Amino acid sequence: MAMKTSPHTAVVGLAWGDEGKGKIVDLLCADYDIVVRYNGGANAGHTVCIGDKKFALHLLPVGVLREGVVGVIGPGVVVDPVALLAELDELAQRGMDVSKRLRISDRAHLVMPYHKIEDRLREGGGAAQKIGTTARGIGPCYADKMLRSPALRVADLLDLQGVETRVRKTVDGKRSIFQARYGDDGDLNFGEIWADMRMAAERLKPMIADCSTYVLDQADAGKRVFFEGANGMLLDVDHGTYPFVTSSHTGPQGIAAGAGVPHNFIGRCIGVTKAYTTRVGEGPFPTELLGEVGDQIREAGHEYGTTTGRPRRCGWLDAFALRAMVRLSGVSEIALAHLDTLSGFEKVGICTQYRLKGRDVPAIPASAADLAHVDTVIELMPGWSGDLSAYTASAELPEPARNYIAKIEAIAGVPVTLVSVGPDREQTIVRSR
Ligand code: GDP
Ligand code: IMO
Ligand code: MG
Repeated sequence: MAMKTSPHTAVVGLAWGDEGKGKIVDLLCADYDIVVRYNGGANAGHTVCIGDKKFALHLLPVGVLREGVVGVIGPGVVVDPVALLAELDELAQRGMDVSKRLRISDRAHLVMPYHKIEDRLREGGGAAQKIGTTARGIGPCYADKMLRSPALRVADLLDLQGVETRVRKTVDGKRSIFQARYGDDGDLNFGEIWADMRMAAERLKPMIADCSTYVLDQADAGKRVFFEGANGMLLDVDHGTYPFVTSSHTGPQGIAAGAGVPHNFIGRCIGVTKAYTTRVGEGPFPTELLGEVGDQIREAGHEYGTTTGRPRRCGWLDAFALRAMVRLSGVSEIALAHLDTLSGFEKVGICTQYRLKGRDVPAIPASAADLAHVDTVIELMPGWSGDLSAYTASAELPEPARNYIAKIEAIAGVPVTLVSVGPDREQTIVRSR
């Protein structure tokens, strides 16, 4: 029997998030039937610009913006039901009712108000280390998922009576813990929480499904599935810059578990990186540019968080980390975003190696303290100028920009198949694979 190649595709971030995944997913998923989120929650902020319209989605996969594409929120996602409804309502107000095209996994876990409060309280001084989270309750919700007994899943919305006592006890328990640990009970009110859950249950019920079975059935029927990664490889809970990471598996490693598909389900996997590197929140960032150049990149690239509005930290492209994340993720191609943003710099830097105590290191150090102390080998390459946003072919790009792309390919070991030169769908150069 001939082996069939898989028609299913994934897009993942190769750095600390905000690589421009939303734009790339939107561009590519037009030819797909289903788009699946498999990790994270409303900590994600994926932006899509279509003409003069801009959409920023957090829990919904941006693929649903394409008419006819079914959105799936997979079992590995943590779902804040109130935030999800607000997102659906906002889209409906803009003339897009996607609720009939959305399926939410019955196995996904619920982000409850006390998770968001705990996130805020911990970051406010309770935690030994401030992570700089998005305060969306992600870590506390995944922690409860692993603890199991306090956790609530989307399936529980189908039988609220069955969990009422447990929710009441959990709220009481969290209140006491918060009071004892932070001197603040978080103003938790069971009545309000319960009312929101009843409202969410009523509205979300028609969308709740066994999404793993749904995706597998649809694939068997010849439908094409697209996976939309949230956050980025360097934020992966196991492989990222721990503890300054998120609480899920962000790369292809997370897809099988987080979507409920086999390990060999995906045929094409694209990693997204910007032409420079950014990071939001705390944690080591070896190529960070703290002076004027960093500010210049932030302003040129409008580097302010989609979810929290925080200014993003900016630096030269960390190609040493990029190479490591390409190897780890197994992506076979790169989508390079924000090449336009680097226009106008006389020299463009790219980090090719980390050094610790005067020696090259073979890989990203496990210890955050070591990572905070690495020196970077930065190669300065000739820059380019001019507005790149109207270019549609690689050959039109200024020579130094082409050389820069070639350098990234040489270091990463995979081809750059897409070059994004602006936020709009149209502002993309497709290179041959
Ligand atoms: P995501 O989380 O990976 O989806 O990325 P975000 O949406 O959080 O951040 C990327 C930002 O860059 C958004 O504001 C996009 O509209 C914008 N963007 C994406 N690609 C490009 C590009 O090639 N050039 C420019 N100038 N902006 C881009
Ligand atoms: P998208 O999908 C950028 C970062 C937070 C913080 C750390 C932990 O838009 O690329 P969390 O709230 O997840 O516990 O925060 O991870 N972070 C992101 N940074 N883009 C994201 O998502 C992020 N999701 C989480 O800033 O440093
Ligand atoms: Mg983002």
